[in-house]
Amino acid sequence: MVEFKNHVAIVTGAARGIGEATAWAFARRGATAVIVDINGEGAEKVANDIREKGFNAIAYTADVADVKAVDALVEDVFKKYGRIDILVNNAYISGGYAIVTETSQETWDKVIAVNLTGSFNFARACAAKMIPKRYGKIINISSGAGTNGSLSSGVQYPASKAGIIGLTLGLAGDLAPFGINVNCITPGLIRTWEPEEMAKQATGWTLEKVKSYINVEVPLKRVGEPEDIAETVVFLASKGASYIVGEVINVDGGGILDSVAKRESLLGF
Ligand SMILES: NC(=O)c1ccc[n+]([C@@H]2O[C@H](COP(=O)([O-])OP(=O)(O)OC[C@H]3O[C@@H](n4cnc5c(N)ncnc54)[C@H](O)[C@@H]3O)[C@@H](O)[C@H]2O)c1
Repeated sequence: MVEFKNHVAIVTGAARGIGEATAWAFARRGATAVIVDINGEGAEKVANDIREKGFNAIAYTADVADVKAVDALVEDVFKKYGRIDILVNNAYISGGYAIVTETSQETWDKVIAVNLTGSFNFARACAAKMIPKRYGKIINISSGAGTNGSLSSGVQYPASKAGIIGLTLGLAGDLAPFGINVNCITPGLIRTWEPEEMAKQATGWTLEKVKSYINVEVPLKRVGEPEDIAETVVFLASKGASYIVGEVINVDGGGILDSVAKRESLLGF
């Protein structure tokens, strides 16, 4: 098993879902998991659960969009542990679905602030601690919506997620000379909710649509699990991935193939 003994791994949006699974994946491998979330109670619970199993974790309540809070948090982590080895930018909001003409300025600003500016805030603050050590791993969580679009997420969510890919490329070129690997993951549909809950939460998705998406559009014929993403994050943070820089890795059970097939059929292939 890949080990991260003595490493400090910050994971944003880690009170649940993919972030929680990622925090566990690092903690199990010997790292101290720094659980950051706007949901302080949830963050504390995850950190407590991890510690109860004998691993290391600490929780922070913070809004990733609040640059002062992010800078103070990163300073505090660095003061406590003297290092920040890994950053996973995972926190997000969707803003829900509305046609562009009904999308409020507030929704647009908020989603870009949390998803994109929040990732920039953490990357900038952590890079300042990683550069002097000539070591670091930054993994940004984008989405298939950022590369292929999405018919159920409005304009703000795909825009923010495409922005995260651009942010990854900019950071990757900037930071590689300092021994810092920056990469990105584009997940497909991941079970952070049960299908019934997913159908309730995601605008325009009925239970039937969720099931047919999984059965028809995902060649692997299963929904992704948070651990599918967590394990890819772990790989990107590992020694085995040390020559990978500025890469965007699709983890979607082959869902991308369906989009390609649809585009080809539209073009008459
Ligand atoms: N679940 C999927 O199907 C899927 C698909 C593609 C991409 N993704 C991406 O994976 C990542 C995680 O998704 P998830 O499904 O686990 O999400 P989730 O909703 O389960 O968890 C998101 C976490 O982010 C936190 N958060 C929200 N706003 C915050 C803020 N301002 N500051 C700090 N924390 C904040 C929430 O409190 C929550 O704990 C996201 O970046 C998402 O875009 C998920």
